[in-house]
Amino acid sequence: MLTMQDIKNHYYFTDEDAELLRSLQPVADANMDRMADEFYDYLLGIPETATYIKDENFLLKLKKTHRDWFSSLFTGTYDNQYLNTLQRIGSAHVRVGLNAHFVNVGMNLVRHFVVEMLQENFPGHEERRRLRAACEKIIDINLDIMSASYQQEELKKFFLSRRLESQLIKATERFTHGLNLVLVLALAGLSLSVVGLFVWDIGHIFQGNVEKGILSALGSLLILWMMIELMENEVKILKGGRFNILFFIGVIIVAMIREILISTLRHDPLTTQAFLAGTLLILGVVYFLVSKSQQPYTSH
Ligand code: HEM
Repeated sequence: MLTMQDIKNHYYFTDEDAELLRSLQPVADANMDRMADEFYDYLLGIPETATYIKDENFLLKLKKTHRDWFSSLFTGTYDNQYLNTLQRIGSAHVRVGLNAHFVNVGMNLVRHFVVEMLQENFPGHEERRRLRAACEKIIDINLDIMSASYQQEELKKFFLSRRLESQLIKATERFTHGLNLVLVLALAGLSLSVVGLFVWDIGHIFQGNVEKGILSALGSLLILWMMIELMENEVKILKGGRFNILFFIGVIIVAMIREILISTLRHDPLTTQAFLAGTLLILGVVYFLVSKSQQPYTSH
């Protein structure tokens, strides 16, 4: 954090400069009303700044504020108290949402006014040069401190949104991680049921229904195999991998194949079998298209 002394050092602002400014106070005070008038004529001429001047009363109040500030440029005392005041002024503009550009514009106007004021009142070239140098420094110091308020405000916004963003991302990541865990657990539970289904299908063989037993057991094994693939994929996702929809389509295809096997054994009506075969065909096409679209991304 810079102190007023640091700032003065950086601008080579000396005690002599402070004295020169103090010596200007009477001239500045004699001109401050004219300065305020010119400042406000200018601000009222720009639509973006004119909107800040709501009514006559507010105009008078603001005019006084800006006029007093002008006078305070020439007090000759520029300590940390002065720094605090300038920081407060800077934040006041940030608070009302005034574009920093207009503070620069305003300061340019003030600079121009001061140069003219010196021109009118100090014919001696050397004296005017020194006075002007001191005025330029204090005007630049004012602009510097007021602009810093804008930068600090931007930084605050940046950090706040960055913090919020990363917290949101973290929370969402935890949530999806939790969901994936639930999915893996559900898949594990379902796989156990498929094992049960397989055992039950084998049971058919021993009950004498060999053909049905073998075919449906084969179907169950296919499903189990796909479930394993699916779970492996899920575990990969939990470890930070990419989601692969192909496995889900695969499981559905295998389940359809099993259904068709059983359907033929049950001697279902032809329409049912045709429906199942049609669905399988569509799923096959979808599987093909998805795997094709993934090819550029997956390395083998
Ligand atoms: C040379 C540049 C400027 C200086 C040095 C300056 C100075 C000041 C000061 C000393 C205050 C009082 C702050 C406080 O509450 O303590 C103030 C407030 C204000 N200034 Fe400026 N100003 C400048 C440019 C502008 C410009 C270009 C506008 C445009 C309209 C503007 C609009 C305002 C407004 C609306 C407030 C009142 C803020 C509030 O209601 O709290 N100022 N300014």
